[in-house]
Amino acid sequence: MGEKISNLKKILSTSNQIIAFTGAGFSAESGISTFRGAGGLWSKYDPSIYANINYFNQDPTYYWNFFKDERYPVIKKAKPNDGHYALVKLEKQGKLYRIITQNIDGLHQIAGSSDVIELHGNTRKIFCMSCDKTYSIDDIYKRLKYELPPRCSCGGVLKPGTVLFGEPLPQYALDMAMLAAQNCDMCLVLGSSLVVYPAASIPRIAQKKGAVLVIINIDPTPLDDIANLVIHESASKILSRLIG
Ligand code: APR
Repeated sequence: MGEKISNLKKILSTSNQIIAFTGAGFSAESGISTFRGAGGLWSKYDPSIYANINYFNQDPTYYWNFFKDERYPVIKKAKPNDGHYALVKLEKQGKLYRIITQNIDGLHQIAGSSDVIELHGNTRKIFCMSCDKTYSIDDIYKRLKYELPPRCSCGGVLKPGTVLFGEPLPQYALDMAMLAAQNCDMCLVLGSSLVVYPAASIPRIAQKKGAVLVIINIDPTPLDDIANLVIHESASKILSRLIG
């Protein structure tokens, strides 16, 4: 392991335009479950029912029960972990160009990161599917006890600002992420299985454009073969050890 750590140290010290690409594994140490792998959410909840826009349009109560019982309580009490704060430091050192996250928990921003691209939206923002009026997550959570699905004052169904399967990613976020991937000199993948597209195309694009690709993920990923360095360890532990 020592050799891999010194290798990562060298790459970090010679890179000045770094993008960090984070997934659920990066928030795991903040107490938020991952989706795949051991104990992942999708082993308990079928994503084609609980996280799919077509099912949501048919019957949104499944999603809202999942939100009420599983997602909100965990995300509400989650705090950024050492990995989030290490990225804030890297940004302050002027080396971190962008954070591109698949996470919907907003923990990067809570930790103090200023340049975060949310490819899959943010669960703390709730909006009306008819009139786009927005609501706070806490107000809506209180109403879920007696109102499923929660509705807007216009009568429209409310939906969290997260991208469900079958929905397109927010175009602006995708464009910004692609641009960052084309202009970075290092892509640091942190805690993602890299199986969900188009998000997982970001590290590929960066690598094709000549950036050094480093993957820190507990389980093997489909991009391990093309990466310059792979570390199957806790991302926040490795990062906080190196960046402090
Ligand atoms: N440090 C590093 N890696 C970790 C850690 C940790 N502490 N804990 C878990 N992991 C790894 C697991 O090995 C797993 O491969 O994190 C990965 C998480 O993978 P997923 O659960 O598939 O999460 P992610 O890649 O973010 O999923 C992509 O899929 O379900 C959709 O929209 C959802 O954004 C999500 C997308």
